[in-house]
Amino acid sequence: VVTLPEGYSFRALELSDYAKYIETLKVLTTVGEISSESFAELFNHWKEHPHIYQPHVIANTEGLVVATGMLLVERKLIHECGKVGHIEDISVAGSEQGKKLGLSMITGLTELAEKQGCYKVILDCSPHNVGFYEKCGYANSGVEMVKRF
Ligand code: ACO
Repeated sequence: VVTLPEGYSFRALELSDYAKYIETLKVLTTVGEISSESFAELFNHWKEHPHIYQPHVIANTEGLVVATGMLLVERKLIHECGKVGHIEDISVAGSEQGKKLGLSMITGLTELAEKQGCYKVILDCSPHNVGFYEKCGYANSGVEMVKRF
């Protein structure tokens, strides 16, 4: 169950979140220059595939984004056409860290995945975040491999 500070909400990303969504993601990594048109184009692409792309945010008392998180639901052939949830792009605004918003984001996305019938949820993280994900109920399972271009 998602428990948030008074007045905060866990909800789906909205088009009007443009500026604050990007600002919050900059805590995680390089975002680059994204125009409102590029954002709208990508937002609409996600909207066209709502069973796959499920971008979420936590908004503060003013409705502004302070945390981000994406759930992707992959339909597989294995495990009798099972579904796997993938959690990506978790970021909490610097001034809002330590208020259990990260935990609430992971809890919210994990509950959504379970409700949609996923048999597991997976994510990649750096070694310094392992303790955080363990507090969220996740366990180490293997090694991430990457080939960059
Ligand atoms: N290592 C160990 N424990 C941690 C860490 C950490 N890096 N971060 C938080 N915790 C602990 C907290 O102390 C708390 O423990 P408690 O319940 O005993 O008090 C518990 O985890 C929950 O912490 P939250 O308050 O929910 O953490 P927060 O809201 O600050 O979010 C996060 C954590 C998401 C890592 C945040 O610091 C952040 O945005 N960091 C920068 C971006 C980032 O690294 N994102 C994750 C990328 S991985 C991915 O996207 C799949």
